[in-house]
Amino acid sequence: MYTVSTVHSKGGCGKSTVAINIARALQLRSLDVAMLDTDKQSTAQNWRASGSEELLPVFGVEKPSNLESTAEGLADAFDVAVIDGGAHLQEMHAAIIKQSDLVLIPIQPSPGDIWPTETIVDLIKARQQVAGGPEAAFVINRRKQGTRLGKATEEALRQFDMPVWDGTADRVAYAEALGNGISVVESSNNKAAAEVEAITDNVIETLSTNGRR
Ligand SMILES: Nc1ncnc2c1ncn2[C@@H]1O[C@H](COP(=O)(O)OP(=O)(O)OP(=O)(O)O)[C@@H](O)[C@H]1O
Ligand SMILES: [Mg+2]
Repeated sequence: MYTVSTVHSKGGCGKSTVAINIARALQLRSLDVAMLDTDKQSTAQNWRASGSEELLPVFGVEKPSNLESTAEGLADAFDVAVIDGGAHLQEMHAAIIKQSDLVLIPIQPSPGDIWPTETIVDLIKARQQVAGGPEAAFVINRRKQGTRLGKATEEALRQFDMPVWDGTADRVAYAEALGNGISVVESSNNKAAAEVEAITDNVIETLSTNGRR
């Protein structure tokens, strides 16, 4: 089983949105996918409850010390686990990074989101030094159309020496999909669907290039 996660200490940057949308997109590509929801707000579990029967299962994990055993319990039954990381949970972040083959860091194109990024990058790099992984990438989330903020953010993130993926634009379709228990890839918004398919392509390519740790 491959494990992909979304983490950032900044609240509201798109961790749940990115995690949920790629998890469902992976499931629609015929993979067996489970989600692990580490957020006390239970966004992924609420999304699951709003969706149809066939939607992937979402398991709540409250304590960092339970993450590894929960993931191990799923390893034989699932191809991919997607972990939705909550905000401001340093200990949980360390556990998620340890468990992941690929960590995605959603970033909104605003200086207030870039400044606190160093802490999470340091945690990931420290783990990469001792364990040789996980892979990691920034996903620019909620890019405002018609502004240069996305490009400026991309340039500012280069200092961290990690890949920067295009991610999502600011679209109502994302909030609607969350409430309807679907991924935007199933919505009528083709642009949002193409964004999530592109992130999903990058996830699969990164995992298949680097393998399991
Ligand atoms: N690309 C987007 N376009 C429009 N709205 C978005 C987009 N991405 C996220 N949102 C909205 O922004 C809000 C915060 O997103 P989300 O819940 O994914 O962030 P989060 O990082 O998981 O937050 P938290 O730290 O509270 O767990 C939600 O209301 C979500 O619907
Ligand atoms: Mg969340």
